[in-house]
Amino acid sequence: EKAGYDHFMLKEIFEQPKAIRDTLAGRIKDGVVDLAQDISFTEEDLKGIDKIHFVACGTAYHAGLMGKSVVEKLVRIPVEVDVASEYRYRDPIITPSTLVVVVSQSGETADTLAALREAKKAGAKVLGITNVVGSSVSREADQVLMTWAGPEIAVASTKAYTSQLIAIYLFSLHLARVRGSLDAAELKAYTTALLNLPEQAQTILEEADAIRPFAEGIAKHDNLFFIGRGLDYAVVMEGSLKLKEISYIHSEAYAAGELKHGTLALIEDDIPVIALATQKAVFEKMVSNIIEVKARGAHVLGIGLQGDTELGKSVDETLTIPETLPLLTPVLAVIPLQLLSYYASVARGLNVDKPRNLAKSVTVE
Ligand code: M6R
Repeated sequence: EKAGYDHFMLKEIFEQPKAIRDTLAGRIKDGVVDLAQDISFTEEDLKGIDKIHFVACGTAYHAGLMGKSVVEKLVRIPVEVDVASEYRYRDPIITPSTLVVVVSQSGETADTLAALREAKKAGAKVLGITNVVGSSVSREADQVLMTWAGPEIAVASTKAYTSQLIAIYLFSLHLARVRGSLDAAELKAYTTALLNLPEQAQTILEEADAIRPFAEGIAKHDNLFFIGRGLDYAVVMEGSLKLKEISYIHSEAYAAGELKHGTLALIEDDIPVIALATQKAVFEKMVSNIIEVKARGAHVLGIGLQGDTELGKSVDETLTIPETLPLLTPVLAVIPLQLLSYYASVARGLNVDKPRNLAKSVTVE
């Protein structure tokens, strides 16, 4: 059932073009997103939302972090993001005009479900984004937007994450259309770029083997850093979680501009730093941050956009991904990071699909 792959994780990484395509299917018509078949919030409901809370755990929480940037940029509604185990106990301000978006691959995560129930009790509207038909989230949320990633077996989440990002883009564009925050040309540009993502993801996967030597280098270390700014910061948080989870290598993900407020003290000779630099708006700033760590002896793997000739000048090694609209880049940028963790785990001879101490679905609080 691994279809010729050594591990479920690798199979699932390679299934991402299909997972993205299936999650987009039937939801874009004539350059606009129409989710009328999926969710029946009325236009009035959607126009009345004055804030959005994303609530989730682990990888799904990282999808929520990306969701904050996307919704705020495209829809101009304020967004908060919480890990479910914190949300429940911090007495969040939830009103009937709050939309709570609960993100869960399994739809069974105990803390996420408890947060969903709290939100409903407080009168919020609840949208569930889940990958499992018939799961508790799908049954209990007011409305459900399915991700169509297919069964995810490996404990480390990969195709569920990219599908969650797609679901979040779709919902944001649906909201943007209803609320008029984007014009037709902008909607068209986003939908066209979304439809190109499966093919672009495929081109990264075709070069997957090129990532193996970097991963083997990293596998010899016990500590490393991921840095990024803006959306790249949300993506490196996911990359760092993946690496810890399956390769047992300690890593931290840092907002690159924050390093000099303390963590730069940990940068010493030869420490690997993975620098994600796909966001043009902060590219120059990112390069300055790379130079800061290089000056302290770090060995930097830069991940940038194809066609960029600048990044290579300030890093030790470079990987590139195809260019899309800046807000959509996380879907592509996470793939090399997933592969890096996968090959690092393999290089260390670990149990990739079933890492120690972890369960696929966390049904205890
Ligand atoms: O099923 P869920 O999406 O609710 O699961 C949430 C987390 O337990 C999950 O994403 C976890 O962080 C992954 N193992 C990370 O790869």
